[in-house]
Amino acid sequence: MTIRKAVFPVGGLGTRFLPATKAIPKEMLPVVDKPLIQYAVEEAYAAGIREMIFVTGRHKRAIEDHFDTAFELETELEAGNKRALLALVHAIKPDDMDCVYVRQPRALGLGHAVLCAERLVGDEPFAVLLADDLMIGREQASGGATVLQQMVEAYRGSPGTVLAVQDVPRADTRRYGVVDVRGVDQPLAEVYAMVEKPAPEASPSTLAVAGRYILTPAVFESIRRQPRGAGGEIQLTDGIAALIGKEKVQAYRYRGTRYDCGSKEGFLEATIDLALANAELSEAVKAHIRRVLPT
Ligand code: UTP
Repeated sequence: MTIRKAVFPVGGLGTRFLPATKAIPKEMLPVVDKPLIQYAVEEAYAAGIREMIFVTGRHKRAIEDHFDTAFELETELEAGNKRALLALVHAIKPDDMDCVYVRQPRALGLGHAVLCAERLVGDEPFAVLLADDLMIGREQASGGATVLQQMVEAYRGSPGTVLAVQDVPRADTRRYGVVDVRGVDQPLAEVYAMVEKPAPEASPSTLAVAGRYILTPAVFESIRRQPRGAGGEIQLTDGIAALIGKEKVQAYRYRGTRYDCGSKEGFLEATIDLALANAELSEAVKAHIRRVLPT
């Protein structure tokens, strides 16, 4: 079965970015010149997905408006014959892409956000992308696969749940969902244990789940059956973990870089790296860094 739908949970409170996130969702914060949510939507589109499902919180408008027609702006650009800018604005939502929105009434956790999309997803496998994890595929800049594209490919070869994973320092396991796998040398390996935010000494491994998932519809019932998990939230990790042994749950070591743009450090790293990779900006940014760093 192909993956036709992607779910973007954008209902989190984004408290680590206050005051910036008081009136806009953190997924609208720009890295260089593009909001985080647009990077994630482009990644899903590149993977062949055409139906984008946004699970929004109280800041619904900014994201809806971003993927909607901006009549006044487009009329102005047309009148000024600003073709390149017009194309840039049109490309945000290609004609063959659909955007639908569902509200998460309260931020009860990522598992709860995914549950809110159940009716829109229906009975088919789907992708989940956390836009605050900005993912850049290793060869993406030269036309190579995005991280979700790599995962969809892995899914085609071996259908079932596919979780994007990466190695992290043991001291950092408390920040992630962590998996234990069989076949550690393979890019795609079967998961036999999964735990949310383990203490370093109790963590089953150092393979951490990044914000990209391919899930099967069985996950909905599985999430519903779980008691509240870490932090009193309805955890996606617990719902996936309960599927182990019943369905194939796999971890995929992606080729690429993840920036944790939910944290200030990760957001700044992404901004610096993407500015350095930008032909128009890189020389100016390099010159600035040379000026401010002691030699
Ligand atoms: P985070 O754990 O980063 O939480 O959510 P947060 O509330 O967004 O941010 P902080 O910690 O307060 O700064 C991980 C992802 O899950 C989504 C978030 O939008 C983010 O993409 N999420 C989280 C929801 O959609 N709903 C929730 O109830 C919780």
